[in-house]
Amino acid sequence: MSSRRALITGITGQDGLYLSELLLSKGYQVHGLIRGQNNPKRVLVEEISPEIVLHEGDLTDFASIARALKASDPDEVYNLGAVSFVAHSFRSALHTSNVTGQGALNVLEAIRLHDPDNRIRFYQASSSEMFGKVQETPQTETTRFYPRSPYAAAKAFAHHMTVNYREAYGMHASAGILFNHESPRRGPEFVTRKITQAVARISLGLQDEIRLGNLDAARDWGFAGDYVEAMWLMLQQDEPRDFVIATGELHTVRDVLEIAFAHVGINGWAAHVATDAEHLRPSEVDHLVGDSSEARAHLDWEATTSFETLIKGMVESEVTAH
Ligand code: NAP
Ligand code: GDD
Repeated sequence: MSSRRALITGITGQDGLYLSELLLSKGYQVHGLIRGQNNPKRVLVEEISPEIVLHEGDLTDFASIARALKASDPDEVYNLGAVSFVAHSFRSALHTSNVTGQGALNVLEAIRLHDPDNRIRFYQASSSEMFGKVQETPQTETTRFYPRSPYAAAKAFAHHMTVNYREAYGMHASAGILFNHESPRRGPEFVTRKITQAVARISLGLQDEIRLGNLDAARDWGFAGDYVEAMWLMLQQDEPRDFVIATGELHTVRDVLEIAFAHVGINGWAAHVATDAEHLRPSEVDHLVGDSSEARAHLDWEATTSFETLIKGMVESEVTAH
């Protein structure tokens, strides 16, 4: 069994939970940064394993990150913490920039001071949102960024800092440019979970309609469980570098509705869906689809869960939970 140690920021989030499970299954000692004095999501982490060691801290608080590094003395650090909801980032741009952008720099700098010999390997949760108003399709590791939200701009800053720490200080720092990935653990504010939760409730007679924004938005949606595997693989490589992680398939919000409603036996979903300007964004990302040939070639990574299986599984999980 390995005795490697990992420190995860954002451990209470969707990816943090899946990554914890993956690392525990590989024999890692898992540490997590958890914010707030009484975080209600602590229980989710404790459900996965009481052995996970939690360190109170916040990405905007450099000293708390330094303390967590000292206490955990990790071999690998996964920076998954972020204000991650794009719509919210427009309403809270400065805070998003502090957490999602400068927060990553705080982690990089704390690692550099704690570990001048570059023993620690670092993973940054970069995002396909950085491609924004896409400059080519599909998007690859070399596609130019065109951020369309405070979230995306903050992620682009964090991405460039990760590359810079790698090049300037020789740090084993890699960024995964991950396309949308979902699961029953997805936050209810994101569109796939919002739809699958509502569809389950509608099928059970608990709700009549769902209010959405842009139904034509198209994304490359995969399963979060597959994607955390890619994060881990990136840190097992001899050389650090960045990878696009995606399924290569494009689907619209309408496709999500179609599959989710059909799965509970409701055809003609339009009667249950209202569009609401409140859910439109000041500047939208119309479509994102990734080419992860590099990940296939160098990490032997491939998405294994189809879009249809993903959405049906999310509906099933909601029905069971009610
Ligand atoms: P998520 O479920 O929203 O989780 C975000 C995590 O960040 C939570 O644990 C949250 O903690 C933590 N956090 C927020 N503010 C913080 C702060 N000030 N200090 C420390 N931690 C803070 O996100 P996710 O879907 O798991 O995504 C993980 C990462 O990948 C994020 O960086 C996201 O931007 C990025 N990403 C996600 C996707 C995707 O499709 N899921 C795609 C590309 C990139 P609380 O529980 O305390 O709120
Ligand atoms: N959330 C939400 N709610 N989105 C809606 C709605 C709605 O009611 N109606 C339409 N949409 C559209 C959004 O406008 C967007 O174009 C698309 O559905 C997906 O929205 P989200 O599920 O909120 O995800 P996202 O693509 O904006 O961002 C997610 O993926 C990024 C990777 O590309 C987040 O997980 C980011 O953190 C991540 O970086």
